[in-house]
Amino acid sequence: MTTLGDVPADTFNWMASRYLTQTQRVTWNGYSRWINQTARLIADWHPDSVVDLGCGPGYLLSRLQSMLPDARLLGVDYASEMLAQVPPSVTAKLATIADWSTSGHERFDVGVLTFSLRDQGDVAATLTRLYDRLRPGGHLVLLETHTPADWRKWGFEAYVHHALPWWAERVGTRDWAGQPDESPYRWLSRSHRLWDQFLPTFPRLLYRIGYRDLTVHTQASDVVLLWSATVVDLPH
Ligand SMILES: C[S@@+](CC[C@H](N)C(=O)[O-])C[C@H]1O[C@@H](n2cnc3c(N)ncnc32)[C@H](O)[C@@H]1O
Repeated sequence: MTTLGDVPADTFNWMASRYLTQTQRVTWNGYSRWINQTARLIADWHPDSVVDLGCGPGYLLSRLQSMLPDARLLGVDYASEMLAQVPPSVTAKLATIADWSTSGHERFDVGVLTFSLRDQGDVAATLTRLYDRLRPGGHLVLLETHTPADWRKWGFEAYVHHALPWWAERVGTRDWAGQPDESPYRWLSRSHRLWDQFLPTFPRLLYRIGYRDLTVHTQASDVVLLWSATVVDLPH
């Protein structure tokens, strides 16, 4: 299965002004730690260029800017309110990931998606289009939610599928005016379930597209996964 769920841009527009503080809060400060780990992974390759797809408020790009002051950094996001939070020194483009991927020829050394791949309607198409915008020898980097493989699985599932939506309805997103079922943390719960079902097929999908050297940078017991893969010059 390569079809997950598309989230409307307006959900992210609505979340934008509270996104960073709330994400940091609901992840018990894990968010900044995971983004910093991702930034260090990327910076260690000393890339000349990085594109961040679904960059949100640009937290990763700001970290990269201080680590790679000479690199070309580009953020892409379809939620204008998210981009309004991006620091002015960071270049960001208002576009869907699909439109950006198919509307230019410049190739990047690194393509990164943090907590945004899970919400793409067609993951295979997203990663295939990105492959064509990465240089041979370049890197794909993914940071996503992950159900821990050990006993932590029970606590994680209770939190993501029950406690978090319950708290959000009463506190975090209680001013949400849309359909209750479409509220941000209901989406998170749903898209994580789909992502979980999809994950076992994911390494094969990456290989089929042409990515190689899949490397896992997190533990099976972690609540996120950080993966990277290398682009080789193969037609797909
Ligand atoms: C959960 S947020 C993650 C933001 C950021 N990457 C981070 O780690 O904090 C998902 C982001 O991806 C963006 N996004 C989701 N689907 C998109 C698409 N098809 N095209 C462009 N942006 C998209 C949303 O607007 C949102 O800002």
